[in-house]
Amino acid sequence: MSTVKTLKNISAYQAGESKIAGKNDVIKLSSNESPFGPSQKVLDKIKKVSATANRYPESGSVQLKDSISKRYKLNKKNIFCANGSDEILGLICQLYLTKGDEVIIPHNSFLMYEIYSKINNAKVIKSKTIDYNVDVKSILSSISKKTKIIFIANPNNPTGLYLDKLSLDQFIKKIPKKIIIVLDAAYAEYLSENDYESGMSYIKKYDNIIVTRTFSKIYGLASLRLGWCYTNQGIISLLDKIRGPFNVNRIAQEAGAVAVLEKNVEKKLISHNKIWLKKVKDELSKLPLVVYDSQANFIFIKCKKGIKEKDRLNKYLLSKSIIIRTLDNYNMPECIRVTIGTEKENKILIGAFKSFFKNDK
Ligand SMILES: Cc1ncc(COP(=O)(O)O)c(C=O)c1O
Repeated sequence: MSTVKTLKNISAYQAGESKIAGKNDVIKLSSNESPFGPSQKVLDKIKKVSATANRYPESGSVQLKDSISKRYKLNKKNIFCANGSDEILGLICQLYLTKGDEVIIPHNSFLMYEIYSKINNAKVIKSKTIDYNVDVKSILSSISKKTKIIFIANPNNPTGLYLDKLSLDQFIKKIPKKIIIVLDAAYAEYLSENDYESGMSYIKKYDNIIVTRTFSKIYGLASLRLGWCYTNQGIISLLDKIRGPFNVNRIAQEAGAVAVLEKNVEKKLISHNKIWLKKVKDELSKLPLVVYDSQANFIFIKCKKGIKEKDRLNKYLLSKSIIIRTLDNYNMPECIRVTIGTEKENKILIGAFKSFFKNDK
């Protein structure tokens, strides 16, 4: 548990911007949310459940776990639900970390790993990346007797890059069993590559792996705050001991239980993302930018001319009512991240990028 003194050295997480002063209609491509609202069936459920908001939710998210286990063919006893996968990341740190412990996090990873580790008084060791790709050798050489947790987002946010299954298999085998490995698979649904493994298949074999998942991305429920993890039952019972009694609100539980079973809706959204991810990547690659090969619902881009060019580009996009994510607080001030939007939003985005580079001499 942190002290106020510890918190002095921790910066609060800065979420992607969602507003531009003086503009009502903005194109928000800054937080990797689904650009589509919930399906009609989910909306109907939300409306219905809202009428009983006076009652506490069911404490164990039983129906939601049933739906998740049906959808992903998992044992429901190995599922834990929470107020966003974010809550789970915090609970894991609370559970395993104390002063003097070390946590290994690859450079340029999702920021909350570092924040929660530091809140719990642990020392963060940043492993190297190679052109932003996770370098497993560097993680292995960073392990010490004090290492308690290794975090890997696969695919990673903000880079969109992933570790292939073979590398992950070999890496996991080499990790001492007393170290917890968190595989954050927030964007797993978007990936159909044969060499991608979200981590679910490791749970039977390894007791030290926790795979986190979210309803904030493909399922379009970011605002309801709903996440889950898959791990062994020993860890689930520990998480159950430290979570709040009603950590998942009822609207989220019931909406999630419907959304996760709408396979056709999911299929359409995956297809939309696949088509537009490629189109946006292809179009932006024609410009003087380094466009990375993301497989998620966002694209990671480096401005070849550096920070000043990134600042001019961002300013220009804001003038066109487009909000993207700058990555200064990820220590990548020359880079940006752009979420895949609706067809209309993507076309406007591509047009704005083109006109910027036509005029930016
Ligand atoms: C890699 C990664 N993990 C976790 C989260 C948090 O997700 P949630 O909305 O479930 O808290 C995000 C959100 O952007 C993310 O990118």
